[in-house]
Amino acid sequence: METIIISNLSKSFNKTKVLENINLNISKTYGLLGPNGAGKTTLMRILATLLPFEEGYIHYKGCPWDNTEQIRRFIGYLPQHFSAYKQLKVFEVLDHFAILKGITNRKIRYAAVEEVLDNVNLLEQRNKKVKHLSGGMVRRLGIAQALIGNPEILIVDEPTAGLDIQERVRFRKLLRKVSKGRHIVISSHIVEDLETICDRLSVIKQGKILFEGSRAEMISLVEGMIWEKEVTADELEFIPDESLISTKELEGNYKVRLFSKQPPQKAESVSPTIEDAYLYIMKENQDVEQVKSIV
Ligand SMILES: Nc1ncnc2c1ncn2[C@@H]1O[C@H](COP(=O)(O)OP(=O)(O)OP(=O)(O)O)[C@@H](O)[C@H]1O
Ligand SMILES: [Mg+2]
Repeated sequence: METIIISNLSKSFNKTKVLENINLNISKTYGLLGPNGAGKTTLMRILATLLPFEEGYIHYKGCPWDNTEQIRRFIGYLPQHFSAYKQLKVFEVLDHFAILKGITNRKIRYAAVEEVLDNVNLLEQRNKKVKHLSGGMVRRLGIAQALIGNPEILIVDEPTAGLDIQERVRFRKLLRKVSKGRHIVISSHIVEDLETICDRLSVIKQGKILFEGSRAEMISLVEGMIWEKEVTADELEFIPDESLISTKELEGNYKVRLFSKQPPQKAESVSPTIEDAYLYIMKENQDVEQVKSIV
């Protein structure tokens, strides 16, 4: 599989830089992790050819992004705020999107709609109006429209936002299924969304990539630095914010999870998670070279 190559990409809104010198090679199932306002949607919209950029270069299979018509044939996109006409039935929505994708032959279009409905497990809901669907079903409808035309690259922006835990788990499973045989770029601010699906991921904050690599590489940033210990309420007061990962109440005392390069007193060393690594990268707010040198 060829990769999507992003080099030296920058994007500004009204002279404010929201993406700064982004360099990424995207392939297979790729995660883009970052807090609110980091620039994830901006990058996704650029990849979906919906937003121009001033500096840099993106290409796939030798085709540059300014060849919009060609690139769009490779791409399916589920926007962060996907919605469809509430009065339309599920199959009507998909038929409409299929027309927009240029499938003019009715028979072929019908077959394409059936195929994606089956793929996202919405065949039974085909005659339901959008207004009668659950949040999870609307998201699945969103994936279905992105899959029409069998795109090589699927771009999915915050796919599980607003879903309850059960729907979230089901949606992640669907993403894993539709990722077979294509590239898929998924953005999220929730570590859990990406950690079970993605081969590689990057962490973005304030328009800059702070980390890029595999899950194992991300976890190794905080190897040997994660500790748990029991403290009293008074002791808890003295733990600096930048060291504290989480706190759990424990029969009057507290169990805390900490970052520390030196072993803290009476603390137990624990295995790091990708969530620990994400928090660490966020706290440092530095580029990865510096983060690594501290570790
Ligand atoms: N059309 C626009 N005009 C001006 N500024 C914008 C525009 N779109 C986004 N921004 C700004 O760019 C920055 C990045 O926004 P973006 O929506 O890409 O972040 P995000 O990572 O997707 O955040 P979220 O997790 O909230 O979806 C923010 O500061 C935002 O206010
Ligand atoms: Mg966004």
